[in-house]
Amino acid sequence: MVQLSDRVQSVTGSPTVKLIQIKSQLQAQGKMILDFGAGEPDFPTPENIKEAGIAAIQKNFTKYTTTSGISELKQAIQRAYQHEQGLTPSEKQIVVSPGSKYSLFLLLQAVINPGDEVIIPRPYWVSYPEMVKFCGGRAVYADHLQPGALFELTAASYMSQYKAKTKAVIINSPSNPTGKIMNREELRQTIDFFSKKNVLTIIDDCYRKIIYTDTDYPSPMDLVPEARDMVAVVSSLSKTFAMTGWRIGYAIVPETLAAAMTKIQEHSTSNPCSISQKAAVEALSSDQSAVQAMVNEYRRRRDYFAQRIDEIGHITYVIPDGAFYFFADFSYDIAKKNFKDDSQLAMDILEKLNIILVPGSAFGAPNYLRISYATAMKDITMGLHKIETYLRQVD
Ligand SMILES: Cc1ncc(COP(=O)(O)O)c(C=O)c1O
Repeated sequence: MVQLSDRVQSVTGSPTVKLIQIKSQLQAQGKMILDFGAGEPDFPTPENIKEAGIAAIQKNFTKYTTTSGISELKQAIQRAYQHEQGLTPSEKQIVVSPGSKYSLFLLLQAVINPGDEVIIPRPYWVSYPEMVKFCGGRAVYADHLQPGALFELTAASYMSQYKAKTKAVIINSPSNPTGKIMNREELRQTIDFFSKKNVLTIIDDCYRKIIYTDTDYPSPMDLVPEARDMVAVVSSLSKTFAMTGWRIGYAIVPETLAAAMTKIQEHSTSNPCSISQKAAVEALSSDQSAVQAMVNEYRRRRDYFAQRIDEIGHITYVIPDGAFYFFADFSYDIAKKNFKDDSQLAMDILEKLNIILVPGSAFGAPNYLRISYATAMKDITMGLHKIETYLRQVD
């Protein structure tokens, strides 16, 4: 029998990726599934981006590229940053990868030594703790489940977890699963504190363009100018441009770190997909009205969701400022139905209503469920009606 490595055995599979498989299996059985579990836009990739991909194929741009991404794409990233944040990272600071999940994986592989600690937010995106473990590190949690400050991404929550072994902190803003944004001052304090301890601050901003508030999104690389070499940003085109399957993410990091990440990418994926890179150039360089239209629609759905959750009652939530998830506390219904936990509630809802919701335990937050509103409005209306009827039933 094959003996698996200790390293891989320390890691558990992704519960959200598993849901995609469950959905396909149920659909193959002819079931009509309402998917509130999706971590991806329900919109198609905008036409002009698809056409750029098709043109790349027709022009035979179908070979290996430079490992860290083509210059044309890096320049498009530079222009986007200059436009949005008023600063231009150097090309040598940019590493384009097959998705920001892989960017983050490369980054952690490049900085973590066995026994190093990485402070991650809780609730967390499901892959953070597993990636840290896979690198031989230890995940430590900045607690954002405090009743008085539910989901608030505070500098204090991170600073309180600092130890001599801390190697990096991960900030995810806007957050998956809570939709919360870390405000400018908290982010500044966090970067300032950790850079002075020689700890890298990693900002996963893959939902940066999906924001519903008027507050400007702080530029992490500019907040503490003297700490720039201790800040890393991981970004994605997946959510912003409905391009999850194209697999394009990127990291903007200090040059020495970029070189280290590139070395690992050289020996693993070689380069991000050539065709997707051309599509990404179009996405970043063209008119952004398709993005705005998607964000407007998410906002409409978010507001409808909030109104309906209030009507259903007994479900506690914090209105999301960004991303496309509600992370809601279902303790009342779990207790009322005599369920063991949030997983049992999610499973019962799947079996009885054919609705997919993600248990909060997957994000380190028992009793919660994550509900994605990256789903068509008609499905949201029908799904919430079914959930309301189900929760009102006394079993
Ligand atoms: C917080 C967060 N970071 C990173 C990713 C990875 O996205 P991608 O690899 O498609 O760029 C996701 C995807 O769900 C996410 O939610």
